Amino acid sequence: MIWRNGPTGYGLVSRALHWGMALLILALLALGLRLTALQPDLSTLWLYGLHKTLGLTVLALVLLRILWHRISPPPRPLAVGWQVTAARAGHLALYVLMLVIPLSGWVASSATGIDTLFADRWVVPAIAPVSAPLETTAFVIHGIATKLLMALVVVHVLAAFQHEMAGQGTLTRMLRGQR
Ligand code: HEM
Ligand code: HEM
Repeated sequence: MIWRNGPTGYGLVSRALHWGMALLILALLALGLRLTALQPDLSTLWLYGLHKTLGLTVLALVLLRILWHRISPPPRPLAVGWQVTAARAGHLALYVLMLVIPLSGWVASSATGIDTLFADRWVVPAIAPVSAPLETTAFVIHGIATKLLMALVVVHVLAAFQHEMAGQGTLTRMLRGQR
């Protein structure tokens, strides 16, 4: 079993992080959209709690993923010419959004003055002062960044399939490690 990334393939750690986080993030995008259509009351509070718990888990995992890439750098994108730059820029943008989204959610939740709970049990420290304007701004950033992520994930998935169908084995190496 190969845990580390190599010059041409992804190791188990990066693949598990990629697919685990992709599932979590897709679920969070759907759950987040559902939340905006609800009234926060006693019957829906658990959904907010679930969203915050999973969202903070994504934040912890993305920090771990960045650290892991320092220890074990990922392989070069399977593309040629300008597409290498495009792939790198796209992946960088995905990382920025994976940080900005949970952080803005945490700032906004802190600014409401209501305790943020992890797994319905542990109080997560507030990272912003109680402030209505800050709450609004952070939720606007959270909303815009999530829409950008949705658009970028569509492009990302299309690019992955396009490169796979062109015979480059892009999807294969994210699934199996090697082409
Ligand atoms: C990668 C992680 C996350 C994703 C993908 C995500 C996604 C979303 C989305 C799509 C929405 C709907 C936004 C809109 O249409 O305006 C939303 C709302 C919300 N998010 Fe997140 N979120 C994440 C992390 C967090 C975190 C860590 C927190 C708090 C600790 C949080 C708190 C909230 C709250 C309270 C709302 C409801 C806002 C409202 O009712 O207007 N989110 N999220
Ligand atoms: C929220 C969803 C997703 C996010 C945030 C995401 C993010 C990323 C990032 C940052 C990379 C760069 C490598 C790394 O850092 O590990 C990557 C690579 C990759 N992703 Fe995703 N991804 C998502 C969903 C998907 C889905 C649904 C597919 C399926 C088609 C996919 C296919 C790939 C492939 C094939 C690569 C490897 C590219 C290469 O070899 O250069 N991703 N993804």
